[in-house]
Amino acid sequence: MRFMYFVFLLSFVFVSAVNADSGSGIGPVKFVKLDATINQKMVELGKTTFKTKCSQCHKIEKRYTGPQLLAVTKRRKPEWIMNMILNPLEMTKQDPTAKALQSKLLVQMANQNVGEINARAILEFFRNNDKALTEKEIQAVPDLSK
Ligand code: HEC
Repeated sequence: MRFMYFVFLLSFVFVSAVNADSGSGIGPVKFVKLDATINQKMVELGKTTFKTKCSQCHKIEKRYTGPQLLAVTKRRKPEWIMNMILNPLEMTKQDPTAKALQSKLLVQMANQNVGEINARAILEFFRNNDKALTEKEIQAVPDLSK
């Protein structure tokens, strides 16, 4: 009986550790396969989607209502970025990084219902923005979750 209890406890600890912060966030995206070359068609779709659905709160070049999104692919995993786009309400409640961002910005990022294809395209747009950044330029954008 005591052994069973121990096994139960151990599996609980293991599951919590896995769920805690693998850096992928919480949402439908478990794994994104990235190509070394950036898909420019996807970048264009991402750019227009960003303009219509995100730019009221975000700028690439500076902080606005939401964090500045330059260098975001250098501070977050691709899966995390897509889950933040697709599932922001749960992310700010359960993901430690998103939670920390919200406690600093005091605004709830909205779910813009962009769908997985457009979220993936926005990720490609971010990758394109970040592809030629120097270490100094990356460091110049603060990680507001810290
Ligand atoms: C209503 C304003 C608002 C809209 C619209 C919005 N966001 Fe956000 N976003 C925020 C805020 C505020 C945060 C910080 C977390 C929080 O407080 O909810 C955030 C956080 C983020 C982050 C994490 C940034 C970091 O430094 O880790 C990403 C990525 C992001 N948003 C992308 C997007 C994209 C892409 C869209 C469009 C599909 C979008 N957001 C639409 C306000 C918004």
